[in-house]
Amino acid sequence: MTTPNAPQLAPYPVEVEAGKSYFWCSCGQSSKQPFCDGSHKGSEFNPIKYTAEDSKKVFFCGCKASGKSPLCDGSHSKL
Ligand code: FES
Ligand code: FES
Repeated sequence: MTTPNAPQLAPYPVEVEAGKSYFWCSCGQSSKQPFCDGSHKGSEFNPIKYTAEDSKKVFFCGCKASGKSPLCDGSHSKL
């Protein structure tokens, strides 16, 4: 499997809104991190949908190596 690009070795804090869906970039090529901008086209990667249950701050993975993507699980500290 191809390794995704890692835009940053830290999460992106985002204030999400309850009921709203977000498309996290799994390939790391988007210029609108942490979200997909369509740059994955032609690659094996696809965005991962995240639907917010509550309005709160969440931490989207920026290293693209999280085991709990699209959210950060701390894996970036081992890269
Ligand atoms: Fe990365 Fe779409 S641009 S998944
Ligand atoms: Fe990817 Fe934390 S930023 S696991």
